[in-house]
Amino acid sequence: MKIIKNIGSLIGIVPKGVARKEGPAMSEVESIDNAFLTIEDGLIADFGPSGLCPHPSPGDEVIDAGGGMVLPMFCDSHTHICYAGSRDQEFIDKINGLSYAEIAARGGGILNSADLLHKTSEEDLYSQTISRVEEMIAKGTGAIEIKSGYGLTTEDELKMLRVIRRVKDTSPALIKATFLGAHAVGRAFTGRQKEYVDLVCGEMIPAVAAEGLADYVDVFCDEGFFTPEDTARILEAGSHYGLFPKIHANELACSGGVQVGVAFDALSVDHLERTTDAEIEALRGRKTMATMLPGSSFFLGMPYGRAKDYIASGLGIALASDYNPGSSPSGDMRFVMALGCIQMRLTPEQAFNACTLNSAYAMGVSESVGSITKGKRANLLITRPLPSLGYIPYCYQSAFIEKVII
Ligand code: NIG
Ligand code: FE
Repeated sequence: MKIIKNIGSLIGIVPKGVARKEGPAMSEVESIDNAFLTIEDGLIADFGPSGLCPHPSPGDEVIDAGGGMVLPMFCDSHTHICYAGSRDQEFIDKINGLSYAEIAARGGGILNSADLLHKTSEEDLYSQTISRVEEMIAKGTGAIEIKSGYGLTTEDELKMLRVIRRVKDTSPALIKATFLGAHAVGRAFTGRQKEYVDLVCGEMIPAVAAEGLADYVDVFCDEGFFTPEDTARILEAGSHYGLFPKIHANELACSGGVQVGVAFDALSVDHLERTTDAEIEALRGRKTMATMLPGSSFFLGMPYGRAKDYIASGLGIALASDYNPGSSPSGDMRFVMALGCIQMRLTPEQAFNACTLNSAYAMGVSESVGSITKGKRANLLITRPLPSLGYIPYCYQSAFIEKVII
């Protein structure tokens, strides 16, 4: 057994069975001051006030939290960290005035990453990806969803997903894999989008399923990329293989992506920089988690999602990093939480729930991570003594994480 003693504040306690937080519950973060927590077989065994802390038996490991906070690690339900190289040249294009959509329309963007990935060996791609995972763990993230989508041919999509499977097998983080063949139309299919969608449905999805390489299926359903009709076809094809949808929607326009995702009971609809009340209505009472990616709003200078309006309408929201080379080259969830507070005006409690339990829900793992709950994985952060939960998004760049237990 591991015993963590001398915890100044144990934060993010959630009763068993609560899968997500919605509306007013998003403002609630339960905690115990002066607490202990025990871990058995990698799972949270018990916790409570310090007075009830068990005496260690021979063989037990005692960790002194030194009066710091103990929190569940962040969950990052939307990333594209399996990529080769970088796109720093496009960063300069953006500074000089080109938009994300203009770069993509010129054949750059995602297609540039696909060209580079094609030339990169599986071994090299693995080492680049695992080093990003390690960097994210050090910054406090314990569960990561990783998408394919820089292959855009059957062979290269499989290459990416095999690398993600190897990351799953070798990293202590909880990893989920998403097939995103419909991230852009592959170069060989320029001008033949329908045929590319045929390839995704008829060849890629069966091949991915045959090797059991993906947990979820995603589509970039947006203006200039895939239509709601394309999306429905792909989600339908995925459903025959048990692939639940998580989709990209409403980054560039209100394109009907949220509605098609909800119709297929998507686990999450992600981006939502553009939203009318129709999207909020479509999500009401549904299983689908609205997920916002403030890191890409920041990096691309786009609007931030209307998180406050969603919560005021009784919905839950999740926040994720979108870590990728084109629109969010950072997987730092402390920064995501800070943007949630500073730019989206979430309270620290709302942002914390969005980055932990709700983001776990959005990647289908809220039964095992995302909160301090007996029986969940002990993926924990120990901080130095901090004055409040709000200190985390307030001082997001200071080195307050003392220890990561994963
Ligand atoms: O979520 N919007 C689509 N996909 C990514 C960007 C991928 C890229 O530009 O490489 C996103 O922002
Ligand atoms: Fe994305």
